Amino acid sequence: MSEKFIVEPSGPLRGTLEICGAKNAVLPVLAAALLTEKPCLLQNVPALSDVDSMSLLIESLGARVAREKNTLTIDAGDVASLKASYELVGKLRASFLIMGPLLARFGRAKVPLPGGCAIGSRPVDLHLKGFAALGAKIDHSHGFVTVSAKRLRGAKIYLDFPSVGATENVMMAAVLAEGQTILENCASEPEIVDLANFLNSIGGKIRGAGTDTIKIDGISSLEQKNITHNIIPDRIEAGTFMVAAAISRGDITLTNVLADHVKPVTAKLKEVNVLVEEGENGVRVYCDPCREIIAADLKTLPYPGFPTDMQAQFMALLSTAQGTSVITETVFENRFMQVGELKRMGAEIKIESRSAIVEGVEILTGTQVAASDLRAGAALVLAALRAEGPTEITGIHHIDRGYVDFDSRLRELGASITRADAE
Ligand code: UD1
Repeated sequence: MSEKFIVEPSGPLRGTLEICGAKNAVLPVLAAALLTEKPCLLQNVPALSDVDSMSLLIESLGARVAREKNTLTIDAGDVASLKASYELVGKLRASFLIMGPLLARFGRAKVPLPGGCAIGSRPVDLHLKGFAALGAKIDHSHGFVTVSAKRLRGAKIYLDFPSVGATENVMMAAVLAEGQTILENCASEPEIVDLANFLNSIGGKIRGAGTDTIKIDGISSLEQKNITHNIIPDRIEAGTFMVAAAISRGDITLTNVLADHVKPVTAKLKEVNVLVEEGENGVRVYCDPCREIIAADLKTLPYPGFPTDMQAQFMALLSTAQGTSVITETVFENRFMQVGELKRMGAEIKIESRSAIVEGVEILTGTQVAASDLRAGAALVLAALRAEGPTEITGIHHIDRGYVDFDSRLRELGASITRADAE
């Protein structure tokens, strides 16, 4: 049975919330655990449907995954299958990340072309170019990609675009290659650093993660002790609640946030007159009652630029700001899925090529809207907090992919949001 959220106008949200572990950090680390025969213990793992899907996928290959609260134990000692099923891979794009580790450890992997959020074509050519540069043979047939190599060889690889997934996949493959790999123009997101730290803890030799050049000294086998790895906090979940404070003109303190990781969001919030205080383990976001929220232009970019995963939520906020904002999406070619639904709530937005021109309005109005993907869904919930009258949001399984108990966590802060069966 599908579900929906019913959101009533909620007034200023107030309170303190602890941010969960990062979805986009744990998914690659789950894939990386396939590199080693020894068990790995992951802490601060968020209870999300995407994490369940990725766990099921590696279990289908023969790994054992056990969950206890926020801890996952992965034992890939008995991996027997090198072929991923379409049903499991179709559920999330990150499942393509099993390719690098399987190729490196077993010399072969067969994975269907991935699914995931409906935000553009999202090709995997950069992943495959990287594997080919490491000496792998690549075959496409019947919707599957097969990669094979007796032993990968280190190489100098320049990525045409700093793709997060390609950087992760190639980095994982290169850990067990013969010789050194240098990855240039690679992604520098905090999740890449988290993955490199995990890989180093299982015996990898990686330097430079977090910059645009990563050096990986290949080794023939991993010498790992018992591994416990703590997943970094989710900067996008944090950013979303920061915008919830702003759009509701509230006052929220978030703990378990690395202020550095949310800097682009903090800077943009300050630009539109929202107050942000950075503490040692978190941030406080609140509004000055004497200052209106004002328009600002923003452009999504690879880290440390403004994250594409925060673009939709910011559009909801700027829809309620004074003045005209221009939002330019440069990372994905089709990531304005929320626009039609925000317009149905009274927002004034025009799309011109890769930009959205947002004219702030005084009032948004509640209606029935549908979440088309994860962050678009979050944006609709944020807009609904501010809207007049009730809003019904369907398609909330998208939201559950990336936010732990989004509704009850918002309720803790004073939001009026309930989950109900959708007809
Ligand atoms: C990851 C995040 C996602 C985030 C995105 C950008 C995870 C699980 N997901 O997705 O939440 O929105 O980074 O920050 O971490 N591209 C190619 N060829 C490729 C690979 C990518 O052209 O081989 C293009 C994509 O179509 C897209 C752009 O590069 O336009 C960025 O994609 P990428 O950084 O790879 O995103 P993901 O790793 O899929």
